[in-house]
Amino acid sequence: MPGLILGIESSCDETAAAIVEGGERTLASAVASQIPTHARYGGVVPELASREHLRAVVPVVRAALAEAHLNFADLDAIAVTSGPGLAGALLVGLSFAKALAYACGLPLIAVNHLEGHIHAVLLNERESGERESGATSADETPSLALVVSGGHTHLYRARPMQGTWHYTLVGRTVDDAAGEAYDKVAKLLGLGYPGGPWIDTLAPYGNSRAVPFAFAQVKTKLHLGGKPPRTKEAKTAPIAQLNPRFLFSFSGIKTAVLRYVELHEMREEARERAIRVLAGAGRPQNREEALALCPQPTLDLIASFQRAVVGDLLKKSFAAAEALGATRILVTGGVAANRELRARFTAEAGKRGLRVAFPTLALSTDNAAMVAAAAWPRLLARDFAPPELTSDPSLALV
Ligand code: KG4
Ligand code: ZN
Repeated sequence: MPGLILGIESSCDETAAAIVEGGERTLASAVASQIPTHARYGGVVPELASREHLRAVVPVVRAALAEAHLNFADLDAIAVTSGPGLAGALLVGLSFAKALAYACGLPLIAVNHLEGHIHAVLLNERESGERESGATSADETPSLALVVSGGHTHLYRARPMQGTWHYTLVGRTVDDAAGEAYDKVAKLLGLGYPGGPWIDTLAPYGNSRAVPFAFAQVKTKLHLGGKPPRTKEAKTAPIAQLNPRFLFSFSGIKTAVLRYVELHEMREEARERAIRVLAGAGRPQNREEALALCPQPTLDLIASFQRAVVGDLLKKSFAAAEALGATRILVTGGVAANRELRARFTAEAGKRGLRVAFPTLALSTDNAAMVAAAAWPRLLARDFAPPELTSDPSLALV
């Protein structure tokens, strides 16, 4: 079977469709970004996201089919993200995929968005002929996967077994995701949305040792003898059962940046910058333009923030890899596009004799090629979604 899968993704603020053959050859990948819609609000507005998905879903599917020179009749299956994500946003992609699968008489495959991000790395490896980073298909050594995006900062033990991948949650954030911290700090400093690309662009020009941000080990209440912390996802992810060495917390650094800004009277400057950024395209058009917006102390603050966040992600990921006996680390999700993160993970892996793999920049942020790639082992196993499939905004990866 050629295994032509149409993937559809609509969990957050990108409407995407892609066609991947046999889990390893991308024939088309179309992404309709909603960034301009949400940028003026400084973050994703769920109702607007649903409305934009409704507008974009048919055109992106058409664009993917046209790019691949295929018709619906050529497809073998339809894969769709069923969670986690924004409830209304997920529902648009899922309802459309269900209707399409029914109308075309094709099987429907439900994909967890986090598994999709992990498969973005595996898809790139297969496409570049590295086949699971040089491993043979019989190699079932576990990998450590760090999914680090605007909604997640999760560590998984990922292991291939007889063609399918199995995941165990090892660590996660107890509050904000790392990407969320990037976005909130950028907003606080009057930079545009999403904040990651701005901070990535500006950080190399600041002194990363100027502001000493620190991360302490997260203590869950259960470890202190009380109840586990209540978070949005507590019902699906048992934080209190995880090793606290592998827990993240990014809400404190956002408050620390806020205090620093207030103490150093940088509020007014940030407000003026926000007005200028909003009047422009909202994204750093080029380095010079971005740099012209920020005096040196702001650049130093940005560099220090990034150094601390990347350092914390690095420390806990490598500690988890060592504890699990993983020989490679897969880093994926929007924040995996970050240059300092890539450079430091690569250098650390080199020192420790581990392998590290990232998706291409285009596959780091949300896309549908990763959804179609993750569905391939399911198509082989005939693991199809039932007709009553519904989306689950807090779907856990197990
Ligand atoms: O994976 P993604 O597109 O959507 C989610 O599933 O959340 O990730 C989006 C997140 C945003 O928080 C954005 O600021 C962050 O990824 N991001 C970055 C970079 N590019 C995107 N963070 C740091 N550096 C980047 N270059
Ligand atoms: Zn994502």
